[in-house]
Amino acid sequence: MKRLIPTLRADACEESLISVLNTVQTAAKEIAFRLHQGAMAGVLGSTLDENIQGETQKKLDVVANQLLKDLLLECQYVHAVASEEEDSIVVGDQRGEYLIAFDPLDGSSNIDINGLVGTIFSVLPRPAGIEGEEMFLQPGKNQVAAGYVLYGPSTMLVLTTGQSVRMYTLDQTVGEFLLTKPEVKIPHQTQEFAINMSNKRHWSTAMHEYISDLLAGKEGPREKNFNMRWIAAMVGDVHRVLSRGGLFTYPWDKRKPNKPFKLRLLYEANPMAMLVEKADGLATDGYDPIMTIQPTDIHQRVGVVLGSKEEVESCMAYHANHPKPF
Ligand code: F6P
Ligand code: MN
Repeated sequence: MKRLIPTLRADACEESLISVLNTVQTAAKEIAFRLHQGAMAGVLGSTLDENIQGETQKKLDVVANQLLKDLLLECQYVHAVASEEEDSIVVGDQRGEYLIAFDPLDGSSNIDINGLVGTIFSVLPRPAGIEGEEMFLQPGKNQVAAGYVLYGPSTMLVLTTGQSVRMYTLDQTVGEFLLTKPEVKIPHQTQEFAINMSNKRHWSTAMHEYISDLLAGKEGPREKNFNMRWIAAMVGDVHRVLSRGGLFTYPWDKRKPNKPFKLRLLYEANPMAMLVEKADGLATDGYDPIMTIQPTDIHQRVGVVLGSKEEVESCMAYHANHPKPF
């Protein structure tokens, strides 16, 4: 089986981009190791504690952030990083040609239950003549690469550099990501959806109607039964969608009027949208393609409806029948 770097070279990827992706995989291997150590590595827990020496015992999402940030900023091709765990961007090499946005440990509430978590990343070109956070405010269609690492029963890297979407599995015996699925394609139809049902009373009328019709099953207007799954880590739910199809949504809701969306555009929605669309699926906010949204803030949130093409289109049809709530 082929290793990660030779497959990127075979795609005629720029050496600078290969170096950035190599750095991400190095950080991911270290994060995977710490996760597998679990409680023995002393990195679990949801509070910041002090050990007997007065040192801070860090939560794993903080450790993952530090590892990615330190390694990426050492890479000469990285100009700056933006992370879920950092208020502002962090600038590295002045000559760097790439910007990396990442969620170091997506689904981190799963850490304490030994559930699925992952690292999501987006690689953008550094725009000319712009400095500071504004550099990152590019629509997702500008991404030159996107991917995630899923820390599950096996550690997997799922990656696109603009061509096909590939899945690699970490072979612990040689410490390398090996190509295990060369071309991911999402089936256009599905009978599986993923949504946090506990928010039902806060959804828009369109989402209410859409999910009600799915739940009505064979006897309802869709005339087929649907199954539901919810991993509570976007990385896990999107991995299922890429593996066997499905619809995943974290939609607009009216719980907190000043925070109507949950997922972040730059380092969650955009990289997942690139993977899903390169695998023949659709990624929208219910109305428009996610990758056409012009960001205004590095931590901006967005509604997400992604997955099997025909199912996402069905969901969008319900939305088109009602006034947009945002
Ligand atoms: O990063 C946000 C996130 O953890 C996603 O990974 C996941 O899809 C979602 O939040 C889970 O949200 P909830 O806790 O509402 O189920
Ligand atoms: Mn996340």
